[in-house]
Amino acid sequence: MTQRTLSIIKPDAVQRNLQGAIMKMIQDSGLKIVAMKMLRLSKDEARGFYDVHKDRPFFDSLTDYMSSGPIVVSILEGENGIDKYREIMGATNPENAQEGTIRKAYALDIEKNSVHGSDAPETAQVEMAYFFSKMEMVG
Ligand code: PPS
Repeated sequence: MTQRTLSIIKPDAVQRNLQGAIMKMIQDSGLKIVAMKMLRLSKDEARGFYDVHKDRPFFDSLTDYMSSGPIVVSILEGENGIDKYREIMGATNPENAQEGTIRKAYALDIEKNSVHGSDAPETAQVEMAYFFSKMEMVG
């Protein structure tokens, strides 16, 4: 089943100039980029994006961090795209990430973990619409 998923290259990775290296890992996996842009979230926009986590203890720190610098958001498409991208990203905590994953290669800690990927079809729809209009989604 072909699926689309939202990817974010987070501030820690953009700040270290890793966009190209991470996109190469994504493209080498066969996932296709069907939309992409660079932007900086305000604190309120970061709060909106992570609203499902608003009661978790790390919410304030996470939204501070996600609004601390530019990010690269993209929509990826491929066979089982949602799970496939989560496999390539590796575990949320880089200490648990497997060799060959983006987080094993680049993540600094559980907060500065370099990438985000949608976790289910319903959240993918909401997250894609948070950043992109229909006109911006190619293909
Ligand atoms: S997941 O991916 O939803 O299963 O993981 P989860 O543990 O539920 O984490 C949700 C997002 O919160 C981030 N996170 C944290 N940020 C800061 N500090 C701590 N301790 C922490 N724990 C989890 C995690 O990176 C997830 O961010 P996204 O952008 O969704 O990957």
